[in-house]
Amino acid sequence: MSDIKIKEAPVADEEAQPILTHEKSLSQKIARGSEARDILDQQMVMLGIQLVTQLNVLIKTSRIYERTNAALDKPVDAILTLIKTMAHDQPVTLRLQNDFLFLGDSHLKVNAQQMAVATSIIDALNAWKIGGMTFSLTVESKDLREFAALFVSLDPDNKTIEDLQKEIKARGIAGIELEDQRQLQIRKGPGTAGSIGPEGTKSSDPKVQRKMNAKNGYANVAKAIGTMTQSAREGGRVNFKQARRAIQNIIDRMADDETAVLGLTTLRCHDQYTHNHSVNVSLLSMALANRAGYPKMELADLGLAALFHDMGKSTIPMEVLNKPGEFTDDDWVAMRNHPTEGVLILSKMRGLTNLPGRMAAASFEHHMNLDFSGYPKLTVPWTLSLTGRILTIADCYDAMTSSRVYRREPMSPSKVLNMMLSKSGKAFDAVLLKLFVNCVGIIPMGSLVMLETSELAVVIKPAADKASAERPFVRVITDPQGNSVDHGREVDLTEKDDTGDFRHNIIRLIDNTEYKFDTSRYFV
Ligand SMILES: [Fe+2]
Ligand SMILES: [Fe+2]
Repeated sequence: MSDIKIKEAPVADEEAQPILTHEKSLSQKIARGSEARDILDQQMVMLGIQLVTQLNVLIKTSRIYERTNAALDKPVDAILTLIKTMAHDQPVTLRLQNDFLFLGDSHLKVNAQQMAVATSIIDALNAWKIGGMTFSLTVESKDLREFAALFVSLDPDNKTIEDLQKEIKARGIAGIELEDQRQLQIRKGPGTAGSIGPEGTKSSDPKVQRKMNAKNGYANVAKAIGTMTQSAREGGRVNFKQARRAIQNIIDRMADDETAVLGLTTLRCHDQYTHNHSVNVSLLSMALANRAGYPKMELADLGLAALFHDMGKSTIPMEVLNKPGEFTDDDWVAMRNHPTEGVLILSKMRGLTNLPGRMAAASFEHHMNLDFSGYPKLTVPWTLSLTGRILTIADCYDAMTSSRVYRREPMSPSKVLNMMLSKSGKAFDAVLLKLFVNCVGIIPMGSLVMLETSELAVVIKPAADKASAERPFVRVITDPQGNSVDHGREVDLTEKDDTGDFRHNIIRLIDNTEYKFDTSRYFV
């Protein structure tokens, strides 16, 4: 830590120097989850608050003085210094979301003294409906001055953010970009499975937008679990912050559009199975828990617990996990030990003080089954936790519909659901299973069906009305001759014609796995 020094707040007559002086690559070298990383994060937040403060000074001063006035020197220099310090390879983005300020993804928590300044900037951004303000490293003094002058001269009551953006361009202001509060939702997730749109990809269609948001959220969770599994395998420390943030993000998106998020669980990327499986189980568990009335405040804990339910598998050699052939007896022993191994690993993790119980339960109980027909076998009386019972359902559903782990070929979602329903009240909690069926639909999302027109369609969301659960929403993907169609129409199977008959009917369920048909592309 010796090469990280913090100077006092920048002063105007001092030449612009980074406040946080350390080699540029240091932040990348510091391990996630380490104390050094935590300190670095805190420092970034502190710098973010300084940025907010100086921006506020700049805006206020610009209301009084001309752009070239020396009174602007101090805030302008300070902002340039802060940007230089914070921007490593990436520009610095100040974001506003639900009246909270963020520096990148870090929440800028302000104390009582900083509140007035923060509120002033929040109000200014809100007036323009600005959700994000990005400064690139190339921004210069003249850009900041010109921008501030513009910002205070235009009236947000009769101008829009687009007008402001146009004017920024017209005046040749470089290095400062604004995003509106809606666009802000689109934040790039790190690329997985090549399914993520390019950074800043935006869509004017709110549905497409929601899908992209959901995808990004999924990618973030997948990345978090990937990093964490890796560091657990290597015996390193595990960073929970990233996962918690990603999970919280998913919960927010779920509140917005559960279907868009759950649709992603149909994504089957075989080599990434474990990560995708963990993310899917996490999403399915949270959706189920939400319906089961799980306390909202605890959903993130459940999501995290679910994300780690298979942590014990990190003790199983990769050769066994990825074995193409049958498992040997020894392999099975290792496999059956993963719930217990998981508890051991989780208990050694740092930073888990408030959720170890739930996580241990998730890991320990997820293969037990309600009737204790699964494993591990216990010789003492045991009561399954709600977390464990939820996990058992989500885990089984995802494992069976995916192609890896206990079976070579995946089963179609509806076959899996039927199999699970046949064990209702035995392996699975009957009430929870019913709620789960409401989540994914009796003809689950991702199922392939044939309509009476001979068109093929994919189930994209459950029917809104539970009474007509067998009539979900579908998207048509082929014409009656079986030729695939792009952007096929969405059909609500509960729709009736003038005579009161259903307009469209499913004539049969197609086993998409039999046809090696991957329906996930209609979701992602
Ligand atoms: Fe498992
Ligand atoms: Fe699992």
